[in-house]
Amino acid sequence: MLEKVEQLVEKVKGFTPKSEEELNNFRIEYLGKKGFLNNLFTSFKEVPNEQKKDFGATINKLKQLVQDKIEEHKSSFETATQSSKIDLTKNIPSDNLGSRHPLSLIRNEIVEIFNRIGFTVSEGPEIEDDWHNFSALNLPEEHPARDMQDTFFIQTNPDVLLRTHTSSVQVRHMEGNQPPIRTLSPGRVYRNEAISARAHCIFHQVEGLYIDENVSFADLKQALLYFAKEMFGEKTKIRLRPSYFPFTEPSAEVDVSCNICDSKGCNVCKYTGYLEILGCGMVDPNVLENCGIDSKKYTGYAFGMGIERIAMLKYGVKDLRLFFENDVRFLKQFDKSI
Ligand code: PHE
Repeated sequence: MLEKVEQLVEKVKGFTPKSEEELNNFRIEYLGKKGFLNNLFTSFKEVPNEQKKDFGATINKLKQLVQDKIEEHKSSFETATQSSKIDLTKNIPSDNLGSRHPLSLIRNEIVEIFNRIGFTVSEGPEIEDDWHNFSALNLPEEHPARDMQDTFFIQTNPDVLLRTHTSSVQVRHMEGNQPPIRTLSPGRVYRNEAISARAHCIFHQVEGLYIDENVSFADLKQALLYFAKEMFGEKTKIRLRPSYFPFTEPSAEVDVSCNICDSKGCNVCKYTGYLEILGCGMVDPNVLENCGIDSKKYTGYAFGMGIERIAMLKYGVKDLRLFFENDVRFLKQFDKSI
């Protein structure tokens, strides 16, 4: 009898299950109701008294061994089945990522387009003084053209105001640099206007300035045509209409052909075939002199556009207020990179 149990001990020691099923059969074979151990415990009473001690100890040893074996292998099968359940190819549900604001997308696109023809970005303060926003730009105090841009003044000091255009940044740039100058100033600007579908008291502009020897109106026209084609498509045409700005002479307003109706006339272009996108002109010699640049030696052109306006045209957005409401359902429609 004792020999039989010792044989079983050896057998258990050498047992290595290859599957969960094999381990289960092993458990039933040894620990089941009719298994080896129960049988051995039943036959315990038949064992001669003097052998009982050794016999008992050996069956207990066998039982312990069997239990250890099961414990040892059970856990290894469990981890194996768990890891086979993990699908490593599954997409992780991403956190709700944000998207770039449509105005940032358009600003970046404008900056990139002009970067390619040598323009670099310069920035300046949103709270300005009278000189940089008005006087240096050929708009002395009491000049009626100041009314073109309804201004927010800070408290009672008329010398401190929220900039009405980023031309102020160009003044600062000219004061600190000599030609050749090729600079773009994107930024937020403020005007005291009633908020509607087409106007807001806060909006964004990109203004450009190019000053060198022999810069001509033809250069301006060519740069703007290049911009319009890059921004709105190869077939885009531009049209210049004479206009007035105190800081440029001559001045013009620029329209692009309406790509919604192919210039045939629709309600977006109000049946004119064209849409206004920016103001421009040759920098007035007074402005150059105000900023310490020799107007006999240098000439330059400048242009300025509203980013909201370009975004509305490019994306077909009919109400400018949507850009400021920050409804994520609206904002998420534009950024294709996410
Ligand atoms: N600063 C003008 C505006 O805000 C735009 C402009 C810039 C016009 C440069 C001409 C030249 O309306």
